[in-house]
Order: sequence, then C-alpha cells, then structure tokens
Amino acid sequence: MAPNIAIVFYSMYGHIRKLAEAEKRGIEEAGGKADLFQVEETLSEDVLAKMYAPGQDPSIPFITPDELEKYDAFLLGIPTRFGNFPAQWKTFWDRTGKQWQTGGFWGKYGGLFVSTASQGGGQESTCLATMSTFAHHGIIYVPLGSHTASTLLANLDEPRGGSAWGAGTFTSTDGTRMPTAKELELATNQGSSFYKTVSKVNFA
Ligand SMILES: Cc1cc2nc3c(=O)[nH]c(=O)nc-3n(C[C@H](O)[C@H](O)[C@H](O)COP(=O)(O)O)c2cc1C
Repeated sequence: MAPNIAIVFYSMYGHIRKLAEAEKRGIEEAGGKADLFQVEETLSEDVLAKMYAPGQDPSIPFITPDELEKYDAFLLGIPTRFGNFPAQWKTFWDRTGKQWQTGGFWGKYGGLFVSTASQGGGQESTCLATMSTFAHHGIIYVPLGSHTASTLLANLDEPRGGSAWGAGTFTSTDGTRMPTAKELELATNQGSSFYKTVSKVNFA
C-alpha cells in the first residue's frame, strides 16, 4: 500500500510554508500524495503583533497528536529558534505523552526541513535537536542525504540553505529573503526522495 504522508509545519512569516509546498510537489512528482498541516500558534496576540507576525492561515488544518498518528510518514518543517526548534513545535510534542506511552509513532518515518535567518544560524543543530524527540518516540529519521541532491548541495554559486539533514532556507534577519529557486528545488528533491524511500516499506 502507498505510504500515507503528512507534511506538518510551523511558519510565522511564510518561509517554511513555501518549503512545505515544494516538498509536497516533490512527493507528487514521485507519484505520491501528502496532506499539509500546521502546528498551532502558542504566543499571545500582543506578542505576535510586536513580532509583526501576519497570523496563521486558517485554510490549513492544525495538527493534533491523534491526527498525526494516522500517517505512516511525515515531513516536519521547523523555523529555528536559537539553534533549536520553536516552542510552538515543543508544545505540540509535549502533547504526545499518549503516543509515547502507546507507541503511536513508533516505527513511523520522519524527515525534516528547516529555516534560519542566516548561514550558521543553526540549521543542522535544529535537526540534531529533533533527534531526541524522534528517539524517544521511536520515529525513524530519513535524512535527505547527499545522493539524490549531490549537485545542488555541492553548488557554491550563491548562498543556499539546506544540507544532507534536510532542505532549508535563509530568510535574512528582517525576513525579506524568501526561498530561492535552488532552495525550493532542494525541497522538491527531498519530497521526491523521501517518498521513494518510504515507498519501499510495506505499510499493509
Ligand atoms: C525568538 C527567535 C529566535 C530565532 N533564533 C534564530 C537562530 O538561532 N538562528 C537563526 O539563524 N535565525 C533565528 N531566528 C530567525 C527565524 O529562524 C526565522 O524568523 C524563521 O526561520 C523564519 O521562518 P518562517 O517564516 O517560516 O517563520 C529566530 C527568530 C526568532 C523570532
């Protein structure tokens, strides 16, 4: 049976969302399909206003732990906070005690894509930090790797987010830099390769 894939993201300013959409295209180009979800905001309206956050798009459903349990595999989109994942994502994981206890996510497959303001801003450390959550839940990490994306990853013509850990984008400190063509291509590449990898598994 074809894998049931969710792409779950938190995106305050839209960069990770753009990558999420590119990941979805990649899965579709490889012959699969995926459902998009977002992680619910936890900050108050007044704090969000001070951060110039435009607010979440209500047309994309919010993920719940029970909903995520219905999927065989998931790609998680994470905008870095201090080299780590944001509190919004942490709050989601902190609601998954039931799945930790029942093994609801055990043996499922997870990939990551990330976003930082700058180069050296913590793309890889954000992925590394997520490994602890994956380990405790028994989620099997699927890296982008260097095989399918070697040309893109080796290209030094321009600044580009992403690594063998997963696709990524640099937003600049004021957030005005949106994902470039190369960053979107890397995300699409990851969607395709993630689908090809998880398709090898028998999800009967
Ligand atoms: C509280 C806070 C902490 C941040 N920490 C980092 C950081 O450690 N490194 C970095 O490069 N960018 C950092 N950023 C920038 C965010 O990573 C950036 O706004 C985000 O990737 C944009 O993605 P989005 O548009 O999908 O929300 C931080 C932003 C905030 C608000």
